[in-house]
Amino acid sequence: AIDLTGRHFLKEIDFTAEEFRGLIGLSAELKAAKRAGNEVRRLQGRNIALVFEKTSTRTRCAFEVAAADQGASTTYLDPSGSQIGHKESVRDTARVLGRMFDGIEYRGHSHETAEELAAYAGVPVFNGLTDRWHPTQMLADVLTMTEHGSASLDETAFAYLGDARYNMGNSYLVTGALLGMDVRIVAPKCLWPQEDIVERAEELAAASGARITLTEDVAEGVRGAGFVATDVWVSMGEPKEVWDERIALLGPYAVTMDVLRATGRPDVKFLHCLPAFHDLGTEVGREIHARHGLSSLEVTDEVFESEHSVVFDEAENRMHTIKAVLLATLGAA
Ligand code: CP
Ligand code: NVA
Repeated sequence: AIDLTGRHFLKEIDFTAEEFRGLIGLSAELKAAKRAGNEVRRLQGRNIALVFEKTSTRTRCAFEVAAADQGASTTYLDPSGSQIGHKESVRDTARVLGRMFDGIEYRGHSHETAEELAAYAGVPVFNGLTDRWHPTQMLADVLTMTEHGSASLDETAFAYLGDARYNMGNSYLVTGALLGMDVRIVAPKCLWPQEDIVERAEELAAASGARITLTEDVAEGVRGAGFVATDVWVSMGEPKEVWDERIALLGPYAVTMDVLRATGRPDVKFLHCLPAFHDLGTEVGREIHARHGLSSLEVTDEVFESEHSVVFDEAENRMHTIKAVLLATLGAA
């Protein structure tokens, strides 16, 4: 059993490979128990704050459903519905929430804010996405990879194509390195993870036996990969003006059927944390379509809707994995 009582869940590199794998194992058990209808409620009477300074569908719902399944209550604070940051400091907010809640989820801009919240809250803080890391997403992605590929992670190769200088790229790199995987970051050099993150990943890889490749070459990057992943080219909180530049830089890195074929793996699976621009039917998408005449961005609709795509398993797994984080950190696993 995994016991992380009192620990924060802020970034992958705070955990050992054994701890991370322990969370994946617990997630799989919780998923099976829910499916079988014999889940045990181990968080009755607990209260969890959900602080979101950016919008969310999956992360918020995953925390709410996970908590409800386990008998805990949640309080959702949106950017306009709390004083955090604008009228009250992060430190003071942390100390107030820490007096009322057993755990605090935080989604925000700067990763330092999540760390500051954690330093003062006195209860576990869960990172629901910052500019630098998206660790709960990594648990879901790894669980999905174990379900759809080889159960042994050190035999698993995955390639991440797209903006690798932000939360998803950073998190994929260190997670693959931590768990001994064959991880390929495929992007123009100016969008590779920052040097300090690459160095940390190389240290982790030396210990785990992971293989790390950073390349600008799509064919080289995806060859032999059992999983191909991508993310939006412009993230929440980035200025809208970046779109034109990113479209120019990342166009060649869009995940198409040709890219999947270039893996040489007929069983290749496609991952995306979502939301995805596989069609441009949304508000932002329509604007981009009008300006650029494109019909998709980081992934084609064909790939997204194909049998290779496991994105909805991945989305469901957000809930089971977040439940595991709650149980392990709140001393209930
Ligand atoms: N993947 C993910 O974090 O989705 P949301 O932004 O909807 O929470
Ligand atoms: N990189 C994306 C991930 C969304 C889940 C963002 O930060 O907006």
